[in-house]
Formats: sequence, structure tokens, C-alpha cells
Amino acid sequence: MNEKQKTISASRCVMTEIVLPNDTNGFGNMMGGRLMYLMDKCAAISAQRHANRVCVTASVDTVEFRTPIREGEILTIEGCVTRVFRSSMEVQLVVTAENALENTRRVCNKAFFTFVAIDDCGRSTPAPQIYPETPAEQVLYNSAAKRREARLYLSGRLRLEDSTYLLSDLLSAIASFGVEDAPS
Ligand SMILES: CC(C)(COP(=O)(O)OP(=O)(O)OC[C@H]1O[C@@H](n2cnc3c(N)ncnc32)[C@H](O)[C@@H]1OP(=O)(O)O)[C@@H](O)C(=O)NCCC(=O)NCCS
Repeated sequence: MNEKQKTISASRCVMTEIVLPNDTNGFGNMMGGRLMYLMDKCAAISAQRHANRVCVTASVDTVEFRTPIREGEILTIEGCVTRVFRSSMEVQLVVTAENALENTRRVCNKAFFTFVAIDDCGRSTPAPQIYPETPAEQVLYNSAAKRREARLYLSGRLRLEDSTYLLSDLLSAIASFGVEDAPS
């Protein structure tokens, strides 16, 4: 690690909220939009803690709502920057719901948000590089490059022929087709 790098743990943000009636729909389940608002806030804190700059949301990957979060449950959202490219940062969010009465906890969803550090004129500006310290952080760091290509491809910012991973992954998937798997 050099003096220009920062650790992933230094970017960590943990937010805790209780789900109140105002956060829920008619069935007593937390509204998806309310959860995404809190996730965006947590990710912004994490990105700004890392970059020491104003950071804006550039994109949100698939957000899947796996299990309902009920009124009265305690929500914990944990965010950290997993990798920095130039100005853009991938932030991972893990949402846990806790039922304090039953003393149970479950992971409700995970998502990646991309934030961009901006300068005083609103232009993108470099953010410090990040240093993964643990094997789990290293795995996330390595796989972030593929996820970045996928999101830039989907947003029309990257052509398949200019990608490093997408094209080779596609070709190796095709090469690994068995006879019975091959499309007719
Ligand atoms: C995000 C924003 C600053 C990017 O501006 P831009 O002119 O495209 O800037 P650049 O071309 O310099 O790109 C900046 C970075 O954003 C990344 N980026 C841009 N669009 C992206 C997307 N859809 N997904 C992931 N990364 C993206 C680029 O890859 C680049 O990354 P890098 O610097 O690490 O290589 C600009 O689009 C913006 O201000 N958007 C509005 C942000 C906002 O208001 N968010 C909250 C609203 S809900």
C-alpha cells in the first residue's frame, strides 16, 4: 500500500434505521423506493468518505428485493468502496433486516452503486486508489473490473469489441458449449 491509497475499511458506512409506518405500503412491508433512497445515501457517504470530494450517483446495478422487510424491523445498510477506476468508484451495499423481538437477522439484498467524484465545476475528477486488505476484499476488487465493463456496455459507453473481459468471456462460454448445449 502506498501513501496515495486508502483502505476499503476506511470507506465503510453503517446505517441503522427502524422501519416506521410511513416507510411501508398497505401490507406493512417497506417500500422499495424508500429502501433505495437509504441505500443511495449510505453509498454517497461511503464514496465521499473515500474521495473526500462531492460524489454523485452515476448508476445503480440490479437491485433485487429478496424478502420483504416488515414494519418495526431494524434495517442495517453497510456500504464500502470496492474499487476505484479514475473518478468512478464501485460501492457495494448489503442490507440486513433484524427482528429484535425474535432475535433473528437476514440479508435482504445486495447491490452495487457507481459514484463519480466531481470537482468544484461539476466535472469528474480522480479519486484516490483503494487498497484491498483481506482475501474477500481482493475478490470483490478483482471482479469489479468485469462488472464495470458490463455496466458501461449496458449504458452504451463501451463497445463489445473494445472490452477486455466481456468479449473473451462470451467467446469462452461459446467454446465451452457441449454438443447437447449448442444452439441449433
Ligand atoms: C456522472 C457524471 C459526472 C459523468 O459525467 P461524464 O461527462 O460522463 O464524465 P466522464 O466521461 O469523465 O466519466 C466519468 C466517470 O463516470 C463513469 N460513468 C459514466 N457513466 C457511467 C455509468 N452509467 N455507469 C458507470 N460508470 C459511469 C465513466 O466510466 C468515468 O469513469 P472513470 O473516470 O473512472 O474512468 C455526469 O453524468 C453527471 O453529473 N450525472 C448526474 C449525476 C447525478 O445527478 N446523480 C444523481 C441523480 S439521481
